[in-house]
Amino acid sequence: MKIIINGAGGKMGHILSEMAESQGEEVIARVDVTFTAPEYSRLEDFTGEADCVIDFSNHKATHELLTYCIKKNLPVLIASTGQTQEELNEIHEAAKKIPVFKSPNMSIGVALVADLAKRVTKLFGECDIELIEAHHNQKLDVPSGTALMLAEEIKDAREGTSFNIGRHENGKRSPSEIGIHSLRYGSEVGTHEIIFSNGLETITIKHDAKNRALFAKGALEAARWLVKQSAGFYNMKDFIAGE
Ligand SMILES: NC(=O)c1ccc[n+]([C@@H]2O[C@H](COP(=O)([O-])OP(=O)(O)OC[C@H]3O[C@@H](n4cnc5c(N)ncnc54)[C@H](O)[C@@H]3O)[C@@H](O)[C@H]2O)c1
Repeated sequence: MKIIINGAGGKMGHILSEMAESQGEEVIARVDVTFTAPEYSRLEDFTGEADCVIDFSNHKATHELLTYCIKKNLPVLIASTGQTQEELNEIHEAAKKIPVFKSPNMSIGVALVADLAKRVTKLFGECDIELIEAHHNQKLDVPSGTALMLAEEIKDAREGTSFNIGRHENGKRSPSEIGIHSLRYGSEVGTHEIIFSNGLETITIKHDAKNRALFAKGALEAARWLVKQSAGFYNMKDFIAGE
């Protein structure tokens, strides 16, 4: 597979580039706004052939990224996060013309946890649900996007669910709430733990991210799958269902 990496100069771009090549893929172009010729600072500077674009840059690249991929009829995997509503709309419009994959968390393990959490919610019946996430001390968003995504999956499976983010007031918990708690310390890559308890038994599902390379691994595997799909919008749920 011939891959163009957008955001190739960043932390994830470096990891992905190295991993792709070590697995026999061809990184045909590395693009980053900080690069100077002969490297590519803009996607449109690369006029050769490719099979897909993997984007680990910045949500502000969305318009340029989609314009390029539509023009070249290229599948695109968007791993960068923080898109505005307008950018998300543009992504969904583009998916009518080309295969577009977008997920705020490219971990296959997290996708499985989301799937399991939904199943437990449906099958375990009435129970208290608490979600605890932990990340490094430089993380800006609280709770993590992944914690919110997991909570949304549970909410989808249980009518009337509300979120209680950072519970701090006296009083009993509501039976329908999911308590969401964020810990920030050291260099923790990211853990997400969901506790389901009905008073008689407790189920705990925990995902522990050991290294950022797991996101590159997921992106690469999802990209191999994406290039075989037709135009449409895809995420990790479609990928794990399709594998
Ligand atoms: N989906 C996931 O699983 C996942 C995992 C890790 C990071 N991310 C996201 O991926 C993005 C990159 O993460 P990172 O840790 O590598 O960040 P980073 O800051 O190290 O790298 C981003 C790179 O993108 C470049 N860039 C910025 N705007 C650009 C543009 N318009 N065109 C081309 N290049 C541009 C920057 O110069 C930088 O080199 C972030 O949005 C981050 O939240 C997603």
